[in-house]
This record gives sequence, C-alpha cells and structure tokens, in this order.
Amino acid sequence: MSIQLGKGVASVAEVMTAATAEIDGVLQNLLPEPSGPERRLAEAMRYSVLAPGKRFRPILALATAELFNVPRRAALRVAVAVELAHTYSLVHDDLPCMDDDDMRRGQPSLHKKFDEATAVLAGDALLPLAFEIMAHVETHADAEVRVELVRALAEAAGPRGMVGGQMIDLTVEHKPADIGTITRMQQLKTGALIAFACEAGAVLGKAPTSARHALRAYARDLGLAFQIVDDLLDVEGSQEETGKRVGKDASLGKATFVALLGIDRARTQAAILADQAVAHLDVFGERAAFLKRLARFVVQRSH
Ligand code: IPE
Ligand code: IPE
Ligand code: MG
Ligand code: MG
Ligand code: MG
Repeated sequence: MSIQLGKGVASVAEVMTAATAEIDGVLQNLLPEPSGPERRLAEAMRYSVLAPGKRFRPILALATAELFNVPRRAALRVAVAVELAHTYSLVHDDLPCMDDDDMRRGQPSLHKKFDEATAVLAGDALLPLAFEIMAHVETHADAEVRVELVRALAEAAGPRGMVGGQMIDLTVEHKPADIGTITRMQQLKTGALIAFACEAGAVLGKAPTSARHALRAYARDLGLAFQIVDDLLDVEGSQEETGKRVGKDASLGKATFVALLGIDRARTQAAILADQAVAHLDVFGERAAFLKRLARFVVQRSH
C-alpha cells in the first residue's frame, strides 16, 4: 500500500499497519540469521527489532521518499536502517546504567530476557548494520547519495545527535533544568533521528534544497512534539498501551517538559509544535497530506 494517501481512503492507523508489515518483512531479511557460536547475538538483535514497535521513523522515511518518487525498494532499505539505529538506542537506553527499564515494546527488555553483555553487544551490532545497509549499492546507484546518507545518520546518531542528547539526559537527572536545556536535549536525543528519517527520503530523491529545508523544519517541530508526548505518556499512559513501564521519569528525576510545565501546558506545547510542523509542509501541497496526518497522530497517540 502506498503511503501517499491522505486522500481520505485509509486512516493513518491503516496505513501504518500496512507499512509496518512491509518494513518488518525487510527487517526479517536483513537481520542476521542465528547460526554458529555467535547465534545468541542474532537472536538478541531479532528479539529487540522484531518486537512490535510503531515503526514511526521508517514510516516517515517512506513517506518523505514518496514525495520525490524514490523507488520503494531503496526507500525501504533506508527506512529499515533508521529503525535499526533507533532500536539500538532503545536497547542501550533501557540498560541498568541508563534508565534501568525492564519492559520494552510489551516484552522484557533485552538485558532482562538475555543479559546485559548481550544487550550491549546487540546494540553495538545494530548500529553498524544500519550503515552497512545504506552503504550497499542496492540502496542507491550513486555513491555520493550513499555517502550522504551515511554521513547524515552518523551525525544524527552521534555526539551532536542522539548520543549527545542521552548524555544531557543523564547529566541533568535530579537537577533543575531550564527550558532551553530541555529543548536542546530532546532535539538531540529524539529529534535528530526523526530528522534523519525525514531527510533521508529527500537525499534518496536528490530533492532541491528548498524541499530539504521544509522537511528539516517539519522534523524539528515533529521530533520535539514526539518526545513531549512520550514524556506525557509516562505520566498519563498505561503499560498495556505503551508497552513499557510508566511513571519512571519522575522517579528518576528526569528533566522533561512535563516536569517543568505541568501536563496541560506540555500538551498545549506539543499541539502547537504539531501545527507548526504541518505548516512547514505547505510547499508540497496535497502530496504531503499523509505527513500532515502523521503529525496529528503524534500528538493524539496513546502508545
Ligand atoms: C521511544 O520511541 C523512545 C523515544 C525516542 C521517545 P518510540 O515511541 O518510537 O518507540 P517504539 O519504536 O514504538 O518502540
Ligand atoms: C529515549 O527517551 C530517547 C532515546 C534516545 C532512546 P526515553 O528514555 O524517554 O525513552 P523511553 O520512554 O525509555 O522509550
Ligand atoms: Mg532515556
Ligand atoms: Mg528510557
Ligand atoms: Mg520516555
């Protein structure tokens, strides 16, 4: 099913379900099969990746790729790469030395099901697999495009992206943090990979700079909204729906918009950000209808 809907045919949930099946099929093929004495590593990678995540980032990559008529096969490879990088971030985020979470995606966290060393190694293995997939000629015939994808993911995942944000998250635990610090932390730890997912379609489609700017602006607001809602769900959501323990942020003294602003103002802020995200897409007209609907999904979601 094409994602270019928005034309009223299918709901966002239906499109996401169909895209998830497609994404999971490619993940199944590209993840290593357990074999040999190292089989435990492949089992652990499969356990964490193939668990029921929302596949929000790969869906973003597929949707932006459609704006530029990128062949589905290529878009799916990049979509899967960002999901692998994201899953690695979750596996490490749950470790006892980080958030110490024992539930993820409705099942025991990887280090609970396996052990800590295996969880560290599985995370370590997922990230380079993402780069390997993007660097492969099947992702794009043009080596410059492949290098650009690799560079962009490296930046989004590294010290100026996700890992940098995770460091701030741990550093400010149990400490007062101002809105600027929290905003930057969220943009790095969560926004950067979401921005990569949005821009990847434009890179694959060799999109003009103006289109890239619009997508970057969309992603910036969307990523922030996404993390604010994640923080809200930690307070207001349920373990059944989110698939992870709730109420953890307050006990860990996490710096969040909810802690700083309270529930109502945080929710309002997320809604404003989603509106802003949608407005940035006007340059694409009707073609961006699904991406606009996805922004609404972000603030309305319960999982
Ligand atoms: C959770 O991400 C961690 C954040 C960056 C907020 P998701 O809410 O996308 O988790 P999955 O992939 O659906 O499990
Ligand atoms: C995680 O933020 C961001 C990552 C880079 C993984 P959280 O720590 O709030 O994510 P959850 O709530 O554990 O999924
Ligand atoms: Mg965390
Ligand atoms: Mg966490
Ligand atoms: Mg959270």
